[in-house]
Amino acid sequence: MLGARGGWQALRRCASLPRAQRAVRLRVREALRAQEPAGGVKVQGWVRSVRSQKEVLFLHINDGSSLENLQVVADPSLENRDLTFGSAVEVQGKLVKSPHRMQDMELKAETIHVVGSCDTWSFPLKMKERHPLEYIRQFPHLRCRSNTLSSLLRIRSEATAAIHSFFQDNGYVHIHTPIITSNDCEGAGELFQIETSHEARESAEKTHFFNVPAFLTVSGQLHLEVMAGAFTHVFTFGPTFRAENSQSRRHLAEFYMVEAELSFTESLQDIMQVMEDLFKTATNTVLSKCPHDVGLFHKYIAPAQKTKDRLEQMLKNKFVTISYNEAVEILKQASQTFTFKPEWGCDLRTEHEKYLVKHCGEVPVFVINYPYNLKPFYMRDNEDEPQHTVAAVDLLVPGIGELCGGSLREERLPFLESRLQRLGLADAYQWYLDLRKFGSVPHGGFGMGFERYLQCILGADNIKDVIPFPRFSHSCLL
Ligand code: 4AD
Ligand code: MG
Repeated sequence: MLGARGGWQALRRCASLPRAQRAVRLRVREALRAQEPAGGVKVQGWVRSVRSQKEVLFLHINDGSSLENLQVVADPSLENRDLTFGSAVEVQGKLVKSPHRMQDMELKAETIHVVGSCDTWSFPLKMKERHPLEYIRQFPHLRCRSNTLSSLLRIRSEATAAIHSFFQDNGYVHIHTPIITSNDCEGAGELFQIETSHEARESAEKTHFFNVPAFLTVSGQLHLEVMAGAFTHVFTFGPTFRAENSQSRRHLAEFYMVEAELSFTESLQDIMQVMEDLFKTATNTVLSKCPHDVGLFHKYIAPAQKTKDRLEQMLKNKFVTISYNEAVEILKQASQTFTFKPEWGCDLRTEHEKYLVKHCGEVPVFVINYPYNLKPFYMRDNEDEPQHTVAAVDLLVPGIGELCGGSLREERLPFLESRLQRLGLADAYQWYLDLRKFGSVPHGGFGMGFERYLQCILGADNIKDVIPFPRFSHSCLL
């Protein structure tokens, strides 16, 4: 986020310059936070409202640096036909104390230059209207100029920085894991295969660009495990792709995942502690850095006070832990009828996850030790009977369901080798088996869906409203 200090210091330095050179460019956020009046100020942005009175012309301009607009007060003689809602302007003048109760500073215009005009009739956004999310979703190229989406995108930017800081501050090395890969980490077959346009045309006799089939990554985990074998604690935060139902309110074909991998870790509790610390630290940072932007979501987008109160509960309380076995028992005893009958050995559905969170008091819930046959090959065998489980953990959160998935990894060569052999994957994963031959250590990690995290802290019902562009949904070709 833009610091108010830089612009203000520039303003001070320029006070000593000859008048002709004095115009100092300030972002709207800097202008609003200036502590003293100042002449020779230039602000650029887009007009959010125009109100023309007999004696005075009022403009509100916004440049994306804050939710609040800067009020510009001008002589009506500066008005012109192109000065409309949505137009891009450059205003020069004096920053003065505002008599208006809602703002400290306003800009008294000396000149107004319309940089780019805007045809308000055909512009889909309308002055002073609070457009519903469903409406602005139709204009993926323009919706970032609405308050809601610009708040969301500032929050997204702060949350990204907060997540990076959390890991950097705790001694993790950031790794760029590949986007094009030949592995299917989750083994669920939800892969987008990559081929050149030439290959796509000549489908008869397939040759592969990389000699082997290549896919967009579903998770950077296996590559992170490689790096955890040298750096101990590593993380990645990048785009991830899954060919699953993208019409749901929690699924995207392209989403961002934060993943961490920790060597010398024998206990699932240690992994869970990192998940909880990450959630709480990043959220507290976002709340303190963008209170107004988050406030907009909590006030107008999420139903009533619910998300704000719920978030306070999540940050205040210790997350709850239950086993998968306990979860199934709780579901079986529930008075609610589920579309999918809860049964040991079956995956938990969203309806089950939401019920469990409610049952535990609307706080995040770790569900641990899932059935062996439900989970991917890399998870550590708990060697238990009669209900055979692996050391897996899912973090379920209010309103969303699954936010994070993680596990201890199978670090024992014979266990991993026989599991891969049974799956017919031993040849393809020789390199992965090597990691168990050369200095193997107990380790584990997790992945958190970034968009689901944003949905959770903001109370956004539809995942498509927390991404910059609603990629490949409906007819969006941006
Ligand atoms: O539970 P998942 O599949 O876990 C993994 O991929 C592990 N390899 C991560 C690891 O241990 N390093 O995915 C992790 C999280 C999910 O809990 C969910 O929040 C999110 O990624 N996620 C999705 N988010 C949006 N759209 C989708 N289609 C998603 N699929 C998973
Ligand atoms: Mg999962």
